[in-house]
Amino acid sequence: MKKIFSLALAGVMALSLAACSDSGAQGGSSEGESSEGESSATVANNEKPLIWYNRQPSNSSTGALDMDALTFNENTYYVGFDANQGAELQGEMIAKYIEDHKDTIDRNGDGIIGYVLCIGDIGHNDSIARTRGARKALGTAVEVDGAIDSAPIEVNKDGSSTHVQDGELAGLKVRELASHEMKSAAGATWDAATAGDTVSAWVGDFGDQIDVVVSNNDGMGMAVFNKWSKEAGIPTFGYDANSDAVAAIADGFGGTISQHADVQAYLTLRVMRNILDGVDIMTGIATPDDAGNVLTDTDYKYSEADRSFYALNLAVTADNYQDFLDATAIYAPISNQLDEAAHPTKKIWIDTYNASDNFLSSTYNPQLNNYAKTLNLAGVDQMVGGDGQSESSVSNKLTNPSEYDGFAINMIKTDNAATYTSILNQ
Ligand code: BGC
Ligand code: CA
Repeated sequence: MKKIFSLALAGVMALSLAACSDSGAQGGSSEGESSEGESSATVANNEKPLIWYNRQPSNSSTGALDMDALTFNENTYYVGFDANQGAELQGEMIAKYIEDHKDTIDRNGDGIIGYVLCIGDIGHNDSIARTRGARKALGTAVEVDGAIDSAPIEVNKDGSSTHVQDGELAGLKVRELASHEMKSAAGATWDAATAGDTVSAWVGDFGDQIDVVVSNNDGMGMAVFNKWSKEAGIPTFGYDANSDAVAAIADGFGGTISQHADVQAYLTLRVMRNILDGVDIMTGIATPDDAGNVLTDTDYKYSEADRSFYALNLAVTADNYQDFLDATAIYAPISNQLDEAAHPTKKIWIDTYNASDNFLSSTYNPQLNNYAKTLNLAGVDQMVGGDGQSESSVSNKLTNPSEYDGFAINMIKTDNAATYTSILNQ
């Protein structure tokens, strides 16, 4: 009954708004009605656009992609960044720093460059890739079953760990002295506070054996930097190019990687917009849209097999950090406002897995707000913030999917896609 009524109403509205141009595949919604929800009532929740972002549906032990989740319906995609390319870049950046500073970097003069490693989440693809990338570039990697071991070693003072080996760089030995998954007592991963506490313990254990700090992200890296390595003058490397980490390069932070959060935020919303407009998925991505927005192949790549868009990464070091100081700046090639009549406002549901994740809250979220505006998508300012630990802190808030035109989901655990798809299937 409700559906028939809605369709009839939509028909009436379409007539009364005949001046509005057609608006594509997703139920022919016209300007002005999205706040009433008619547009979504005509499309089943499990046929609406579903964009997974930042945490790719995958098995947290094996890393295998969850193709059921990625192909949930024909309007399902993942948007993230190229984890392996970025991880290799981070490793190379650190190795180059060591080579460039080989005469001064060995603090205690024992011929060994000691580094400690902050691991974000042992079950997260991006974290695993970064641990592997650093170990590979520093020569400390060991393979298990054909892939680099990414396990935390905890403590390896004498080089006897079986998860890593001593490497060699610029004529010096390189040793991973310690690595640890930075997980809070309550279970939040990538936990900056835990990293700050852990470094104090490491300094107690290793003293001036530590020459370099490597972190899977800036949030943890900056916690270490602020607690210890800034004052101690120890180069510390992160990932994400958050504004505070980029600014810290002036004070001795070693470097970071930009995962092009601007491009990712745009793609997350752009793919949604294209589906809702019923246009080619590459509109405003590979081909310019009607406002002139377009990306190039140095910004992103698309894998049809993975149903995934991946932004490309850039190294940010003392040489170029001036260009990256504002991580929330809008990216000029995709900054053109869409016309509201041709692309009427739609309302999306969106969450972040952990409201206190540094990267998502300080960099990604402001970027989402930038592009929500240019792409005429409402709802981003009502982002649901999870606690980073229990999936239900997010999924329990997806109570009224019928009120939304699409969903952008940042899972807490990459295995948990079905928690959301089952709600959409109801
Ligand atoms: C980011 C991390 C972030 C994590 C959360 C990664 O892509 O680099 O900083 O904490 O995603 O999912
Ligand atoms: Ca040393």
